[in-house]
Amino acid sequence: MAVWDIVVFWSFMFFSAGAAVPSVNYPFTSTCAVTGSTVILRCTFTPLKQVIRVVWCKNHEICQGQTPSVYDSKSDSRSSRYRYLGDKRSNCTLEIREVWKDDDGTFRFRMEATDSSAHFTNKTGVMLEVVEEMKMEVNVSGGDRELRSGETVTLRCTSRCTFHQLQVTWLRDGHTLSQFGPTLQIGPLTAEDSGNYSCALKTNTETTSAPFSLQVKVDAADKEMDRALSLVVGLVIGVLLLAGITLTILFTIIIIRRRRAAADRQRAVGGDTEQKRSDETDSSVLQLAKRQADELQKTRQAEEDDSYISIQFRQKGQDRRDRPEEEEEAVVYSSVRG
Ligand SMILES: *[C@@H]1O[C@H](CO)[C@@H](O)[C@H](O)[C@H]1NC(C)=O
Ligand SMILES: *[C@@H]1O[C@H](CO)[C@@H](O)[C@H](O)[C@H]1NC(C)=O
Ligand SMILES: *[C@@H]1O[C@H](CO)[C@@H](O)[C@H](O)[C@H]1NC(C)=O
Repeated sequence: MAVWDIVVFWSFMFFSAGAAVPSVNYPFTSTCAVTGSTVILRCTFTPLKQVIRVVWCKNHEICQGQTPSVYDSKSDSRSSRYRYLGDKRSNCTLEIREVWKDDDGTFRFRMEATDSSAHFTNKTGVMLEVVEEMKMEVNVSGGDRELRSGETVTLRCTSRCTFHQLQVTWLRDGHTLSQFGPTLQIGPLTAEDSGNYSCALKTNTETTSAPFSLQVKVDAADKEMDRALSLVVGLVIGVLLLAGITLTILFTIIIIRRRRAAADRQRAVGGDTEQKRSDETDSSVLQLAKRQADELQKTRQAEEDDSYISIQFRQKGQDRRDRPEEEEEAVVYSSVRG
């Protein structure tokens, strides 16, 4: 019968030259599963004719005849552990739940079309290995060697048997890292990356690997460099701080000096106003009196100068509110002028 199938298939191929070849593809041909877990066997197919029956069987070359199938679209008596996730057009994915020891074996997919010449089974199949427990392992790319700072290292999470579509989580010193996936890249390495790394299947913490101790060797030269760098940074900060303090002091001195100079000038112009406000000493009062006397002298000297008198008049007039006696003086000047 099998031989007949093949003869029919090849004669069909011969007479339908140019037509597509039927095919079934398994993205991975072997996988591993822990008892009690769920495993998905990926599968795609390209039929020649309309498919009317899809079958998955275990440990049989072409899933035909008396072979008990784990899934048969034409039969209702099948275990609910096997679920066909595919269809009759292109997807032939099979899910196996609550995997147990007896599932160990090779699974194959068979399609049957309206025309028996288009029946097809890919004998490669998917080999499923069922294990009691799965312990992950951490390996480092490039083998065990000394790791230096600045390098990049790739840690690989593996297990004795291969697995697919299972998410791997990483731990460092017992804490879960944010990275997922079968590899973990770390770098550029620094001394802080040293630690105990382990990995596990996300769905099963019992698979957590033995810790892998990553030790980053920091070169003596690098250490020296680090020390020199921190020294320079410290120095720069110190200098900046000092400059800041000096500038602040300088500014304060300048401001004080300017204020003093301004106060002196104000005293020279309108001394009595200042006098009223501040607590002047006897000598400054004397100085002020002398200055006022001088001023008066100067005014007299310049009596003939029109412009001077007008300036003087204006100046006195500005402070009229404060100094009524000077207003009188101004009146005197103006009358002199008149
Ligand atoms: C059978 O499956 C294997 C694995 O996916 C694939 O490499 C091969 O091409 C398939 N053969 C046919 C005829 O579909
Ligand atoms: C086949 O179906 C499964 C389940 O629905 C799905 O996860 C998978 O992506 C499908 N594959 C393709 C190639 O469409
Ligand atoms: C890593 O593990 C070793 C032994 O298991 C231990 O001596 C060491 O202190 C651990 N390191 C860290 C950073 O936890």
